[in-house]
Parts: sequence; structure tokens; C-alpha cells
Amino acid sequence: MLDIKFDVGVEAASRYKHLRFLGNDLLLYREVSSTNTIAQLIARSGAGEGTIVLSGLQTSGRGRMKRRWACPAGQGILMSMVLRPEIDVQLVPQLTLLCGVVVAEAIRQTTGCEVGIKWPNDIVIDGKKICGILAQSSFSSGLPQYVIMGVGINVNQTYDQLPRECRDTSTSLKLELGQKVSRQRVLEKFIRLWDEHYEGFLKGGHSFLKPMWLANNVTLGREVSITGESELRQGLAVDISAKGGLIVSFSDGSEKEFLADDLSLGSSYYGR
Ligand code: BTN
Repeated sequence: MLDIKFDVGVEAASRYKHLRFLGNDLLLYREVSSTNTIAQLIARSGAGEGTIVLSGLQTSGRGRMKRRWACPAGQGILMSMVLRPEIDVQLVPQLTLLCGVVVAEAIRQTTGCEVGIKWPNDIVIDGKKICGILAQSSFSSGLPQYVIMGVGINVNQTYDQLPRECRDTSTSLKLELGQKVSRQRVLEKFIRLWDEHYEGFLKGGHSFLKPMWLANNVTLGREVSITGESELRQGLAVDISAKGGLIVSFSDGSEKEFLADDLSLGSSYYGR
């Protein structure tokens, strides 16, 4: 773990001891390259289910589609969880959808903000991105060995502290509410809700997840631009599949399922 500059300690973990899955080990850092990278390293050396890596700053924060995730020190929640779910491979991508539900509920319950999930894993307020989720999985003999679930929530950034290229499409809780928000309150709510919902998902799979995802999503019923294919296509998002894919209906009457890795949606029209 060469890139860890300063280890703040693990004592805060005791606060979460009563939670069954998460908070078993909470590793708190001032600065790392990426919490996902650290979580991957410790998962490879045997870190258990529910280990959480948190950092005040990331020097090489990673986003989906090889993008960067930037957040000034201490202004956001930068977290990765080590998960070791004993579930069918097909359910693994849906952990990202589950995480989106938990983030949306945690933000709504702590701040009252009207958040929604833009499929597959952007949490938005009035069309602007407030949180991104990056899941990275490792499989062995066709079974999930571990899943790293990385969550970045914009909490107290000012407009100028958002990356220049994202200022029109992203926001922070402080910008939405006009006042500073406690990162700890949002994080604690997230951990408690994750613990509950994760257990439900391990038992009930897609049928447990789907109603919660539907209740939080802002994608279904909207026109979507599919930019992952060679040509740009427009269609209507109509459902999510048992694999967690997005079912899109086209004007010629055909329907197609898209998986999260295959496309990104345009960002122009999302609200809740
Ligand atoms: C995206 O929307 O592109 C996903 C962004 C995920 C960012 C989080 S921040 C904590 C964790 N560590 C990383 O390097 N990335 C994720």
C-alpha cells in the first residue's frame, strides 16, 4: 500500500460494530490514490466482507468508463466497501443498482433532497449528478470472489470546487440546500441502510431489489440516447431486466436490453 500517506486509524469502527455486514473494519485515510485501489489490495490479502475504506482525499479517484473522479479534500464522501456475496454471477451487477437505492434513500432521509437514480448508477438531484458508483469485481471458477463497491458523494463542494467540465451537470448537497451538510450523518445512514438492504438482497435477489429501484429511478418512461453503440440511437426506457439491464423500446416496435458496461445515457433531461 505504497500510496497511503497517512493512516488516521481504525478506532471509528467501534461505532458501527452492531451492524452485521458492514463496519466490521473501517479504515480511515487522509489521502490515498483511490479507495477502490486500496480496497482491491486489501481484498486480495483477505479483507473480510463489510470492510470499508474511507479517505478524505483521492489523488487518482476513478470513475466509470475510465473517467476521473475529483473531489477536494474533506468535501465529499469517498468510500469503497469490500463485499464477498455468495450469489449467482448474474446478480453481481445488480449490487450496483442496490447501492444506488441505498445512496438515494440515505441522502433523502438525511437531507430531504429529492434524489433519483439515473440507470445504472448515477444519483441525481434535478438532473444533476450528486453521486457516482464504481463497482469492480473479481471472479474465480465462475463465482464472485469479491466485489469492490466504490461510492463518491458530493457533499460540501462549492460551485467552483466542482470539476470545471462538470459544473453544469453535477451538484453537491451543500449547493442544493444552501448550507453545509454533515458527511458523517449521511455516511452513517448509508451504512445502516446498506446493512438492511444488502441482507434482503442476498436472500431475495432481483425480486427484492426491483420494487425499491423502481421507486427511486428517474430513467424509466423517458427518452434515452444510447451512446454506447456505433450510431446514436434514441428510444424509450421501459423496464429493467432480471439481469439489471435497461430495456429500451424503439420506434420500430423492437425492444433491446442494454447492460451497464455497454452504454451510457445522455444527461440532458433527468429530474425527479
Ligand atoms: C462514476 O460515476 O463514474 C463513478 C465514480 C465513483 C467514484 C468513487 S469515489 C470512491 C471510489 N474510489 C474511486 O476511485 N472511485 C470511487
